[in-house]
Amino acid sequence: MKPAALTWTFLLSLLALAHGGHAHLGAFPAWYSPAQAERGRALSLRQCAACHGPRLEGRYGPPLAGPRFLARWGGRTAEELARYVAARMPQGRAGTLEEAEVLDLLAFILQANGYPAGKQALQTKTLKQIQILKP
Ligand code: HEC
Repeated sequence: MKPAALTWTFLLSLLALAHGGHAHLGAFPAWYSPAQAERGRALSLRQCAACHGPRLEGRYGPPLAGPRFLARWGGRTAEELARYVAARMPQGRAGTLEEAEVLDLLAFILQANGYPAGKQALQTKTLKQIQILKP
């Protein structure tokens, strides 16, 4: 774990405390790159949108963006979410996604939930540092 990331986690905890448990998404560190989220969006349109909607708003499958999703996944880490996606999705073809594809999808899911993009691409080793916050 990089010291910078640790510092961020610490700062975010403080922020969350200062706001009575509700940190503002705008204060989040940038965990993924715009290009990565764009790849994730394209892949999602091919493999996820039929069930989760083109903007992850939900259809046959539950929404992957917005308060309902955050209420379910808030408090858990992006690593848990990535494991879930890798093991169970796309439904009917579980286990077919490559590691890089899962990261792209995670970047898109973070973007769809208001997390800001930055210079660095999301990496497997940083997933466990990302705690999804409740709305
Ligand atoms: C054939 C329909 C279908 C496809 C395609 C599909 N999903 Fe799902 N997904 C579901 C259903 C239904 C659920 C609800 C949980 C369950 O029944 O397993 C779900 C649940 C999820 C969840 C957990 C949501 C929650 O509220 O806990 C995530 C994350 C997810 N899917 C991601 C994806 C991603 C990413 C893709 C594309 C790679 C994808 N899914 C493709 C049907 C689908």
